[in-house]
This record gives sequence, structure tokens and C-alpha cells, in this order.
Amino acid sequence: MNIYGEYEPTLHQILDEFTKRLLDLNKKYQTTHHESLFEHLNGRIKTQKSMIEKCQRKNLPVTPYSALRQNRDSIGVRIVCNFIDDIYTCIDLIENMSDIDIITKKDYITNAKPNGYRSYHMIISKTIDSQDIDGNFPGHFYIEIQLRTIAMDTWASLEHKMKYKHDIKNPKMISKELKRVADELASCDVSMQTIRQLIREEN
Ligand code: GTP
Ligand code: MG
Repeated sequence: MNIYGEYEPTLHQILDEFTKRLLDLNKKYQTTHHESLFEHLNGRIKTQKSMIEKCQRKNLPVTPYSALRQNRDSIGVRIVCNFIDDIYTCIDLIENMSDIDIITKKDYITNAKPNGYRSYHMIISKTIDSQDIDGNFPGHFYIEIQLRTIAMDTWASLEHKMKYKHDIKNPKMISKELKRVADELASCDVSMQTIRQLIREEN
């Protein structure tokens, strides 16, 4: 049994098409602005195993409906930018796409999580030219977008790796240190952006 039912190929098509569109956007931006809008991009379809585990964790029936409607991160895109400003430029460009509706926005950059996690999260709904699980035509599918700077991404991926070490002796001290590093990196992001601004004003 497939947790995404008959929709798994559609999820891959949507991810491929959306990724390509963002890469095109970056190319156009580079031509006109002589710098990149984002540094790189990752996309993934949540694995069957993770989606099943997530449904079980949330006490949802393990069905395509839970996977595609109750959960909204079956399709995930992570956009990693060089500078904080660029994240907000990306958000504007995504909001202006005609086949996209913004469902939720969480700004963990302005309001970092207590552990120091920073990132901008959006759930968008993308209209597509085929039927969805509710039987609607045109259909719609959710995409989770995470936007971060390189520094935020570095912290999040290392923190994620360390979270799964179960033998941490002094978790309080470790959390405090991780939070300190997150705040230092955030301060570097602001400094780097200020430096870019200074360089721009020289020219
Ligand atoms: P889910 O039900 O798991 O999707 O959580 P949520 O709806 O409360 O979403 P939230 O915006 O808090 O986080 C969703 C995703 O952001 C996670 O799957 C992670 O990829 C990332 N994330 C959120 N918090 C953290 C964190 O503290 N550390 C790291 N490394 N990643 C995080
Ligand atoms: Mg989520």
C-alpha cells in the first residue's frame, strides 16, 4: 500500500515543475541583478516511512487523505539564500505566482524558536491541471517551503544530526551552547548583510 495512493507520481511532477521554476527565477534574477537570489535549493517528497510515522504520531489514520490534506509537507522545498534580505525577496516573488495561494507563514527569523532555530516557513497551495484527492478539478496540492540563510541552514542541519544522539550526558548545557551558536550566527548574518550594503553604497 502506498501512503500517497495514486498521487505519488503527481507529487513528483509538482516538485520537479516548481523546482525548475525557482531555478529559472534565479537565472533571470542573476541576469538582471548580477547576483543570485538564492545560493541553492533542495526538494524532496517525504518518504513513505516518514509520512506513515508522522500520521501515527499525530493519531491520524494512515491514508492518502491524511498524507495529503491533514499533513501539508508531503512536498518540501528548502531555499537557501546568501543574505536575510534575499529571503524576503524570494517570498515576494513566490507570493506573486499566479497558481499559488499562501496558506500559512511562520517567520522564525524575526521570532526565532526558543532553541535558536531560525528559518521562514510557508505552506502554499498550488493549483494543478488535474484532479486532487477531494475530487476537485483543477486540483490543489500543498507544498512546504523553508527559506534560510546559509548560516541558518548550517545550524539547523547540525542541530538535527545531534538531536538523534540519545546518549547526551548534559542536555541542558548542550542546548544552551547550541542556542548561543545560533545567536552568534544570526549576528553574523546581520553583519554580512551590512557589509553588502556598504559595498553597494560605494558603487
Ligand atoms: P510538523 O507537524 O512537524 O510539520 O511541525 P509544525 O507544523 O509545527 O512545523 P514547524 O514549522 O515547527 O517545523 C516544520 C519543519 O521545520 C520541521 O520538519 C523541520 O524541518 C524544521 N524545524 C522546525 N524546528 C526545528 C528545529 O528546532 N531544528 C531543526 N533542525 N529543524 C527544525
Ligand atoms: Mg511541517
